[in-house]
Parts: sequence; structure tokens; C-alpha cells
Amino acid sequence: MNDTTGKLTLTRPDDWHLHLRDGDAMRSVLPDTARRFARAIIMPNLKPPVVTTEQAAAYHARILSALPDELAGRFVPLMTLYLTDSTTPEEITRAKESGLVQAVKLYPAGATTHSDAGVTDIARCEAALEQMEKLDIPLLVHGEVVDPAVDIFDREKIFIDRVMIPLLQRFSGLRVVFEHITTRDAVAFVQSAPGRVAATITAHHLMLNRNALFAGGLNPHHYCLPVLKREIHRQALLEAATSGHARFFLGTDSAPHPVKDKESACGCAGIYSAHAAIECYAEVFEQAGRLDQLEAFASFHGPDFYHLPRNTGQITLIKESWRVPEQVELGEDRLIPLRAGEQVGWKLMECPPGQRVVRPG
Ligand code: NCD
Ligand code: ZN
Repeated sequence: MNDTTGKLTLTRPDDWHLHLRDGDAMRSVLPDTARRFARAIIMPNLKPPVVTTEQAAAYHARILSALPDELAGRFVPLMTLYLTDSTTPEEITRAKESGLVQAVKLYPAGATTHSDAGVTDIARCEAALEQMEKLDIPLLVHGEVVDPAVDIFDREKIFIDRVMIPLLQRFSGLRVVFEHITTRDAVAFVQSAPGRVAATITAHHLMLNRNALFAGGLNPHHYCLPVLKREIHRQALLEAATSGHARFFLGTDSAPHPVKDKESACGCAGIYSAHAAIECYAEVFEQAGRLDQLEAFASFHGPDFYHLPRNTGQITLIKESWRVPEQVELGEDRLIPLRAGEQVGWKLMECPPGQRVVRPG
């Protein structure tokens, strides 16, 4: 895959955790993902959230119609439902039957951006979770407790004992993705968990530790949830992502916010990385001396876990540095992308026109 000419060709990857937003903002950011990835798991935390299959189908149609002509047919959005206290088993059945909805997302109420409608107590979701278990629809988990008494840097670790372990015991057949893990505790947990448990890892959690929040002054563009952690945790994530372990895979959690909402007295959480996502992963894998493991992490482990076919197309990256723009358009606003104004060492070669991707189902 990597040859001496500085070219890296891999099976077209997928992004297993993505925020696209809606309307003009979506129109601005979608091409960044569609150029790099064949498919993406689309997060349902719109305002209002995507709680029904009908809403998911409508959102799916809006995403496809927001694709520019040159990318039409090259990107498949994989839809999710937002789990609430009142999600019914019938809604889960409709989701499965639609063929469009691949998973259901659990946000503990108040854990992150647009999560007010999230789950207040998992006990209230028993019937929906049972139906997901029965129909084999994976549950995607934002794994942080919301108890204000728990230190923000410990919220993921505590979630494992308080919520994740009881959940997996109660629903012994449910497939679960522990989303955007950030700690060595979560890495160890997934490694020792049964085969029905996997995790996504973002590029920013592989590249940055919590010092990046304070380097040279408070940096709101490095603020995301779960928040960046200590270096020992970054090291554990890097080891997991590059290990070849089949239950760790790529999920950018690219989360666009207007610059004015980030640079504010109450700056919101989310890092935008879609503009350089696979390039950033290539950089960290290369620095770890594990470039040979990138394809499995980015292109194989995700579809295998989701029981979807691997993609047949390819992308090529070249070893050439390029400068990330200072700002990117976001509808009528602007956003500050990850690595703004900095050099990235791998560059995407544009896909030959007409190349199409395999559709699920
Ligand atoms: C996400 C967003 O902005 O929607 N923010 C984030 O910091 N990751 C929500 C989320 O995935 O937690
Ligand atoms: Zn997210």
C-alpha cells in the first residue's frame, strides 16, 4: 500500500461518527467528507433531534440533495436515530425495516452539544433496547456520565462502571459502539469486552492531549466532548488504533460550529476535522511507524463490525504538504478547522470522475 514514491493507496474509508448539521451549513461541510469517505454514520443531534425513521429518511434525502454534482453517487449517508426516554419498540422496528437506519445513538441528557432531549435514565429505554437487541441494531453510546459531582476528566472512566457494564449485562446480545473514546480505561475496557463491543477513535484525540486546550492561552477550537485528556491516554488510544485490533475503527466526530459560537463566553464543544480527516490519521499512523495499519482501521474494521460490505473503490494520498486554510465557510458563517493555518503532510488526490461506491442493503 505504501511505496517508495510517497503514495499511499487504500480502500476508500468510511467515517463511523460524523456531524453534518443541516441546511446551508451542511451544504458547506458535506463535500469535505464525501471527497474522502464512501459512507458516514450521520449523528442525529439536530435541533430538533432525529427521533423517528420518517425524520431520518427526510434527513437522508436532504443530505443526498446537498451533494454537489461532482460527488453525487459517491457518498452514502448511514442514518441513525436519537434515543429518547420515549422511543418505542415500534419505532425501532420501522428503523430496521427502512434499510436506511443503521444504528441508534444514546446521549445521556445534557452530556454534550444538543443533547437536552437525551436519555435521563436507561431504565426508561428498556423496551426500545430490547427491540434493538432482537433486531440486531447497534447502539452508539456517548460514554460520559453527566453527574456534576464527577470531574469532567473522569466522566468517561466512571461511565464504564456506572452505565456501560450494567447495560451490556442487561442486554447480553446488544451490539454497542463506545463512541469517540478518550481514555486508556476505555481502551482496556473494549479490549476485554465481548466481540459485540467496539469503539471509534477521532483524529484529534490521537493527535492532541489536554495541553492543546491551554497552549499559549485558552484555545476554544480544541474544546470538544469528551474533552481532550492526558498524554498517557493519547498514547493508549494511539496504540489501540494502530494495533490492528478489529474492534477499533475510524470515527472523526467532526463537529462544525460557527466561529462566533466557539469564541464566546460559553464556547460550545466540537472540533471540525472533515477537511483533513484521513490525512491527519495518515500523519499520526506514520509518526507511530504503523502506516501499514491505517487501511484496516479506516476501511475494514468499521464495515465488518456493522455487517456492511467493505468498499471497493480506493483513495490515494500523496506525501506532500499543504496548508490548511485559516477559516472555512459554514453556511453564512465561518468555522475554524482543525490545524488551521498549519501544514499537513499528506494530501488527497482527487478521485477519478465517475467512481462510485457500493450501497448497503
Ligand atoms: C458534538 C457536536 O457538536 O454535535 N460535539 C463534540 O464536542 N463532539 C456532539 C458530540 O458528539 O458530543
Ligand atoms: Zn459526536
